[in-house]
Amino acid sequence: MSVGVVREIAEGERRVALVPKVVASLVNKKVDVIVESGAGLGALIPDSLYTDAGATIGDPWSADLVVKVVAPTDDEVAKLHSGQTLIGFLAPRNQTNQIGALKSAGVQAFAVEAIPRISRAQAMDALSSQGNVSGYKAVLLAAEQSTRYFPMLTTAAGTVKPATALILGVGVAGLQALATAKRLGARTTGYDVRPEVADQVKSVGAQWLDLGIDAAGEGGYARELTEDERAQQQKALEDAIKGFDVVITTALVPGRPAPRLVTAAAVEGMKPGSVIVDLAGETGGNCELTEPGENVVKHGVTICSPLNLPAGMPEHASELYSKNLLALIELMLDENGSIAPDFSDEVLAKSCVTREAGDA
Ligand code: NAI
Repeated sequence: MSVGVVREIAEGERRVALVPKVVASLVNKKVDVIVESGAGLGALIPDSLYTDAGATIGDPWSADLVVKVVAPTDDEVAKLHSGQTLIGFLAPRNQTNQIGALKSAGVQAFAVEAIPRISRAQAMDALSSQGNVSGYKAVLLAAEQSTRYFPMLTTAAGTVKPATALILGVGVAGLQALATAKRLGARTTGYDVRPEVADQVKSVGAQWLDLGIDAAGEGGYARELTEDERAQQQKALEDAIKGFDVVITTALVPGRPAPRLVTAAAVEGMKPGSVIVDLAGETGGNCELTEPGENVVKHGVTICSPLNLPAGMPEHASELYSKNLLALIELMLDENGSIAPDFSDEVLAKSCVTREAGDA
């Protein structure tokens, strides 16, 4: 059995799917690991560390199992052939052409973002490992852009009040953002439409903002709000947001455009010098004035919409993603060390986005 580790070519992508430590554990299981030259360079991992771990440097696209971080381009899909397996963030809802091409080519593909969010699959949960990085980095970005301190400071020149930070959408990224903002000394508040999140928000020392909307959906995710609920939410947030120096938004509903939580009027109501970091830019943004991928200043408020924060912390993001992949690969291997996914296992059945042509 061979595993190929591809050099990511997407602009700004610095992560790598497997780090040398994980390569060594696969090599110990008699798996041949082939790493594309330079695959780890974005994460500061030279080829020599992969060869030290037992990998060979070569063409990863011929391996039985090809592992990637982001979805393959058309050219990359063309390098794959029938009988191979591919794992990565394959964006099955957006990259429908590539998914179709993988299926026609007879490639068995697993999208890590489709792994169910169940306790048994936590070790494989790449959305969580990378969401954690995003939540952490979002706060650092907000602090960098802010015209104010985060912590309370008592100095000879006077006392500075702590910044106030509101996190809208408290899933994995939001919870990490609350914890990180608190560590930097901000006074933190969290808001979500899933009521069970209130206890998690309080557990990281934040206040819970209750707007009286319950929109818990399926699989632990939120459902989309009705039009009335959305109007009620936007109005209530318009009032609440005024008092905050920093707003970080992470709200997502699977398969739907990002919910609009922060209206233009809400931005206008904020103090100039305040900062919004919108993590939902890829699906349209949680803020009406967000320009995906850009930092803009509107009404004196800086609105940042970073599109791939995990790529900005490639070392730990790769290490954690790599461990997620190892757990998933181990689940697919049979007693002879070959790829033989058992599709009665819901983790494999749900994450598999193409099987043999005509199957899935
Ligand atoms: P996500 O990235 O899909 O969404 C972020 C947050 O936005 C969610 O908390 C969601 O409730 C919230 N949201 C959506 N629409 C909103 C609106 N209109 N207003 C305010 N907030 C809104 O979420 P993430 O981080 O991927 O987590 C999703 C679920 O998966 C959570 O329930 C989480 O606890 C669960 N999970 C379970 C794991 C397990 O192994 N049991 C591991 C990781 C996550």
